[in-house]
Amino acid sequence: MSLVRFYTGDSIPLELHKVRIVQKLDLVPVEQRARAMAEAGYNTFLLKNKDIYLDMLTDSGVNAMSDRQLAAMMIADDSYAGSATFTRLTDRLEEIFGTKYFLPAHQGRAAENILAMTFVKPGSVIPMNYHFTTTKAHITRLGGRVEELICDEGVKLTSSCPFKGNFDLEKLEELFRKEGGNIPFVRIEAGTNLIGGQPLSLENMLAVADIVHRHGSLVVMDASLLQDNLYFIKTREEMARDMTIRQITRMIADRMDIIYFSARKLGFARGGGICMHDKALFSKMRELVPMFEGFLTYGGMSVREMEAMTVGLEETMDPDVISQGPLFIQYMTDELIRLGVPVVTPPGGLGCHLDASRFIPQVRQEEYPAAALAAALFIAGGIRGMERGTVSEQREADGSEHLAAVELLRLALPRRVFTLSQVKYAVDRIKWLYDNRQLIGGLRFTDEPSSLRFFFGLLEPVSPWPESLVRAFRRDFGDSL
Ligand code: F0G
Repeated sequence: MSLVRFYTGDSIPLELHKVRIVQKLDLVPVEQRARAMAEAGYNTFLLKNKDIYLDMLTDSGVNAMSDRQLAAMMIADDSYAGSATFTRLTDRLEEIFGTKYFLPAHQGRAAENILAMTFVKPGSVIPMNYHFTTTKAHITRLGGRVEELICDEGVKLTSSCPFKGNFDLEKLEELFRKEGGNIPFVRIEAGTNLIGGQPLSLENMLAVADIVHRHGSLVVMDASLLQDNLYFIKTREEMARDMTIRQITRMIADRMDIIYFSARKLGFARGGGICMHDKALFSKMRELVPMFEGFLTYGGMSVREMEAMTVGLEETMDPDVISQGPLFIQYMTDELIRLGVPVVTPPGGLGCHLDASRFIPQVRQEEYPAAALAAALFIAGGIRGMERGTVSEQREADGSEHLAAVELLRLALPRRVFTLSQVKYAVDRIKWLYDNRQLIGGLRFTDEPSSLRFFFGLLEPVSPWPESLVRAFRRDFGDSL
């Protein structure tokens, strides 16, 4: 994909696939978009698909599937126990990761539940480069504590650091000196989600594994976003230049004790699971699978999805497949930079991330700038993004607000789903919104759940700013959608 140069010098990502199944989309008028946003309590999770034009909420479970994946689904072996589909999946995982043991789970957070229930107890400390929402919720629910050891560049929103997801290795050593006995495992999150899909280097992953093993603890990789991270290792890291994606994957996997993943991302299907090399670890967690997920040979997944995942995992080893996401994200990010819109740099995986703090500096963090920007962009263009800022945090035990380190609006680019003209449309509406940014105001909760509030919480604007935005849209676009 990346090797095709245009004679005219254009820098455009060229698809190495063609579209064979499509889904009709509607773009509803701006007034209807504003109404839908209000009905959804200014929470993009609560919007209905019929009102959405570009669904950039997530890449989870919505990546396009290949013809080979769809074909594989037809031969799925539907049996409660001993399914041949499951054997095909475990064989593929062993071939890719070299791991002999696999526990299936219905999605990534279910794998996190099993890991947390096995290893976390009150007082446990779980170091990681950065938390993910569901990961942290499972750990804190059981009385554990998350320690984020991301390198300083990681939370700098504009940077030229190619591996912003890296651990600060000195902080990891120091934490082991202080808390050694309380650390059951260290979690490495590939393609670090909440800081903008930013990768870790191969070198950093291996160094973390060395430190952890020297201190007698376990190293666990969350490989949900590994595919993007593999692409960045291959294209940005000198030591990996001559390695294949398969070789890089194997070098990483050989040093991990446990690899878990959401197959809604890794494998372009829907499901998840936990891989390991060691039988004792497998036995320690095994009984939780039939208790919470399903029997050991499906773990709550449909056999069709497991077949699709088996093929999807193999396709993940193909640079033409895994480059599409990062190259589209780079295109979108570069276009927004050209237009002066504040975005997270360098472009990472998963999606393009707008920096809400610089986009609308007039909105205080207590009035949720990332959520306000998400609502405004939906009104402006029917584009659904995801708040990744203070609303996605949990309040402190004393009820005080936990202000997020970064206020981002994530615009996910599910792989092979959108065309370049749709990406250009999104860029256009974002630029319009940026030029009208003074109209955007903050939000406040009207109904705030105590945990994972970003999923169900209801909010309202602190002033009638959505109406002003609709009027400005009509002024500038006439009767256009
Ligand atoms: N770990 C990471 C790094 C994730 O990005 C996700 C999900 C999970 C674990 C949980 O997996 O959804 O299958 O239960 N991320 C989705 C997202 C929800 O939109 O970024 P899951």
